[in-house]
Amino acid sequence: MTRPVVVVTRRVPEEVEADLAKDFEVRLNADDHPFSADELKEALRTADALLPTVSDRLTAEVLAVEPLRAKIIANFGVGFNHIDVNAAKARELAVSNTPDVLTDATADTAMTLLLMVARRAGEGERHVRAGAWTGWRPTHMLGTQVTGKTLGLVGMGRIARAVARRAHHGFGMKVIFHDPYPPSPQEAAALGAEPVGSLDEVFAKADFVSLHCPATPETRHLVNAERLGQMAKGAFLINTARGDVVDEAALVQALRAGTIAGAGLDVFEREPVVTKDLLTMENVVLLPHLGSATRETRIAMGMRALENLRLYFAGKPLRDKVA
Ligand code: DGY
Repeated sequence: MTRPVVVVTRRVPEEVEADLAKDFEVRLNADDHPFSADELKEALRTADALLPTVSDRLTAEVLAVEPLRAKIIANFGVGFNHIDVNAAKARELAVSNTPDVLTDATADTAMTLLLMVARRAGEGERHVRAGAWTGWRPTHMLGTQVTGKTLGLVGMGRIARAVARRAHHGFGMKVIFHDPYPPSPQEAAALGAEPVGSLDEVFAKADFVSLHCPATPETRHLVNAERLGQMAKGAFLINTARGDVVDEAALVQALRAGTIAGAGLDVFEREPVVTKDLLTMENVVLLPHLGSATRETRIAMGMRALENLRLYFAGKPLRDKVA
């Protein structure tokens, strides 16, 4: 019996590649280069399934390819804003993602950024490596205390809840949030998190604002000059969601003008390009989209994408159906 052909657009952990090969004829991207639009089209034309990542732009133009052989896009990742889901639906392409398995790793990354930017950890490390440290003194590189401060969460989905748990129960922070689909009052209370009536309140009241909303046309540039202006002068912005939720140019302006105190960013508007000005600012912490980057999590994400492929080709409902 011929096995379905799957194109895996980036290298995934070897355990996942080995398991994929048990059930599918797998085409790997040996040198792990980012696929061009033409390569994505070729994959959709010649394979039964695509296993892409956030680095693949599956636009309406790419998905309009003829003839279309692929039946399913099993995304390696929970976010799927790089896939034009409506265009996929119109071509009767199934789309799945990998929720749940990256919640803890991403929440850890949000806390890493929060702590690093509050305690000037990136700056301190650069200082030591540069040989500039002259010794301990009471006024050297003072940061901001995290304990007792208010964390404001934009969105209260799985990852935000995991951040709330860590921040409240681990670091003694007060947590407020706003989400159009909030958790039950009991669940919020167990996390030590308090709903507020609007996003404006989150931005105005928090010492740290952490973004946990999906990237949609509605959330594009949700954090713009006006919102940044609502934040306290000593406040920090943390983004582990998606780059285009923040107007990066407005953020640079706000950081330069001292409108806010700093930012911790794992995601950027034009990845892998980072706005140049950010690279020279000491009060920002910059990570290369590492939210889910633990071995355990990346294996679990791959296995979840594989599970969706297996289900699809067995004629069963997808576990993580996006479209
Ligand atoms: C996710 O799963 O959404 C991560 O950001 C990688 O795409």
